[in-house]
Amino acid sequence: MREAYIVTSVRTPGCKMGKGAFKDTRPEDLLTFILNTAIEKTPNLSKKDVDDIMVGCCFPEAEQGLNIGRIVGQMAGFPVEVPGATINRFCSSGLEAICQAALRVMAGWAEITIGGGVESMSMVPMGGNMPRPHPEYTRTHPELYIAMGVTAENVAKKYEIPRQAQDEFAFHSHMKAAEARRKNLFTELIPTPAVRYVLSDNDTYKKETFIQDFDDGIREETSLDALAKLKSAFSVKGTVTAGNSSQTTDGAAASVIVSETKVKELDLKPIAKLKSYALVGCRPEEMGVGPKYAIPKLLKLAGLGISDIGVFEINEAFASQALYCVKALDIDIKKVNIHGGAIALGHPLGCTGAKLCSTLLANMIQTGSKYGIESMCIGGGMGAAALFELCE
Ligand SMILES: CC(C)(COP(=O)(O)OP(=O)(O)OC[C@H]1O[C@@H](n2cnc3c(N)ncnc32)[C@H](O)[C@@H]1OP(=O)(O)O)[C@@H](O)C(=O)NCCC(=O)NCCS
Repeated sequence: MREAYIVTSVRTPGCKMGKGAFKDTRPEDLLTFILNTAIEKTPNLSKKDVDDIMVGCCFPEAEQGLNIGRIVGQMAGFPVEVPGATINRFCSSGLEAICQAALRVMAGWAEITIGGGVESMSMVPMGGNMPRPHPEYTRTHPELYIAMGVTAENVAKKYEIPRQAQDEFAFHSHMKAAEARRKNLFTELIPTPAVRYVLSDNDTYKKETFIQDFDDGIREETSLDALAKLKSAFSVKGTVTAGNSSQTTDGAAASVIVSETKVKELDLKPIAKLKSYALVGCRPEEMGVGPKYAIPKLLKLAGLGISDIGVFEINEAFASQALYCVKALDIDIKKVNIHGGAIALGHPLGCTGAKLCSTLLANMIQTGSKYGIESMCIGGGMGAAALFELCE
């Protein structure tokens, strides 16, 4: 197989659902902006040379519906000949899009592809606007349809992850993210235009554009005491709270993937190669354990061990499951989510896999890590993991 090189990987900030900076900005506009930025940041790349645009989206309906991968390609000014697709594997959709786009290059079916992700949780709620589970199957298999927070409670209970450990994990997520923001370490983050509607003197709303240049869910002022006081969010006497769950968020991200031939022809400086991608299934009612099985499968494919990996981005869907996976795999916690994770930075569902790719690559450059792994749990009971190798 050929190599697939990631030459550019960028993201918008992640902003809180319903009350954050992107609450009134349409997902197509976030994605259009980040696709155009990815192209502009790739020297000598012309839009007409892109073979395909693959976009992860978890609830592809309403504002982000139809085929947003195709629609946004056109909105962003790609020629009509450049196709586009929308990919859904729930929380790994953005990573799935990057891996499918990379596989086309690896197979020799394409030279240049884009993989990305988008989600406006402000505009399309988790579960979609009109969920219609199968009436009989729901009765016999309710676990496939339960709230993600309930699966996090199940993991906490079954694998004995106490409330205090979850809150400490959440606290550190915010502290690491706050420090990274202060030190401008989110080099993959692109200040992004957003809109707001402001009431004007004649009682009509005026649309204004502004630039959002930071992740607005980071709580620099949080404390272990404040976290300990929060009520459980998904069951009466549970341990999973608003503080130790991922935040619901809006955002978009994109990576440009190129063959070796095109790297040379366009004189590009690749960041990393995508080496392997592994997926597993697990019990839906404890879907959070996914990374525990996906990461070893990935390492086996690559012939590497946990200690070969310099940095990990493991999606913090919930502290209970992320912490459980890190402990079960005996991963050095200092290598995990070094600038915070989804508890502080948000989890814009279908965008997350693409967002974490851009963060992981930036962190691999910052730490000089040869290998980095991105992994996440997936609703319905799955885990995904991808291995990236830094280019010289
Ligand atoms: C848990 C959940 C329901 C909470 O939703 P929410 O109430 O909108 O959460 P918020 O972040 O706005 O927090 C609510 C309040 O809790 C308190 N709070 C939250 N985090 C806190 C922290 N770290 N420190 C102190 N207080 C905190 C605050 O009072 C906050 O209100 P404020 O924003 O006005 O200050 C939601 O985040 C959720 O569903 N998360 C999981 C998403 C998911 O399942 N994704 C898929 C995973 S597979």
